[in-house]
Amino acid sequence: MAEVRAARDADVAAICDICERAYPATYTGLVSSDYLDRMLAEFYQPDRVAKAIAPAPPDWLGYQVVEEQSQVVEEQSQVIEEQSQVIEEQSRVVGVAAGGITSPGSGELFMLYLEPGERGRGLGTLLLDRVTEQLRELGATEMWVAALEGNKLGLPFYEARGFVRQSRRKAYGTTDAEDYWSLLLRRPI
Ligand SMILES: CC(C)(COP(=O)(O)OP(=O)(O)OC[C@H]1O[C@@H](n2cnc3c(N)ncnc32)[C@H](O)[C@@H]1OP(=O)(O)O)[C@@H](O)C(=O)NCCC(=O)NCCS
Repeated sequence: MAEVRAARDADVAAICDICERAYPATYTGLVSSDYLDRMLAEFYQPDRVAKAIAPAPPDWLGYQVVEEQSQVVEEQSQVIEEQSQVIEEQSRVVGVAAGGITSPGSGELFMLYLEPGERGRGLGTLLLDRVTEQLRELGATEMWVAALEGNKLGLPFYEARGFVRQSRRKAYGTTDAEDYWSLLLRRPI
C-alpha cells in the first residue's frame, strides 16, 4: 500500500538518497557527471533539504513523499516448541515531489523523483496528483514542468498525463560550455 503525505524532518535522508540514486539513473548519458554532481550539491544536500521541509506558500508547498507500507511476518521462537508469528508494519519513503505557485493562476512542478526500482507502478502519478491538488487549492488553473531534453523517463510520463511541450530554454545551472536544454511543458488543471 502506498500513501502520499507531506514530508517531515525525519524524511531528509530519504529525500537526498532518492535523488542521489534517481539522478544518475535518469541523466547519465544526457549530461556530464560534473553537471550532475553540481546539481545534486546545490539541491539535495541534507542541510538544504532540511531547511526546505517547512512549506513556504504559495511559492514553495513543501516536499510531498510517497511512502510504501508492507507487512513483514516474522517467525519468533519464544520458548522451546512454541513459536509465534509477529506481523510487523514496515514503511519506506520511495519517491518525492514538490511544487509551488509561480504567478497568479499558474503553478509549477519543481521536482519529481522515484527510487529507480519503483518506477512504472503508478507512484509518480500519485505524487503528481498530490501536487496538482495543492496548486488547484491555491487557485492555479495551469501547471508547468521543466524536463531535460532527451529525458526518456520524465517526458513520456508528463505527456501521458496531459502536458504539452511549449518551448525550450537552457537548462538550469549550465555554464557557457554546457549545451544542455530543458523543455517546458504545460497542462490545464
Ligand atoms: C517520471 C516518474 C516520476 C514517473 O513515475 P512512475 O511511477 O514511473 O509513472 P506511472 O507508473 O505513474 O506512469 C504514469 C503514466 O506514464 C507512462 N510512463 C511512465 N514512464 C514512462 C516511460 N518511460 N515511457 C513511456 N511511458 C511512460 C505510463 O505508461 C503511465 O501511463 P498510463 O497509466 O496512461 O499507461 C518516474 O518514472 C521517475 O522517477 N523517473 C525518473 C526521474 C524523472 O525523470 N523525473 C522527472 C524529472 S523532470
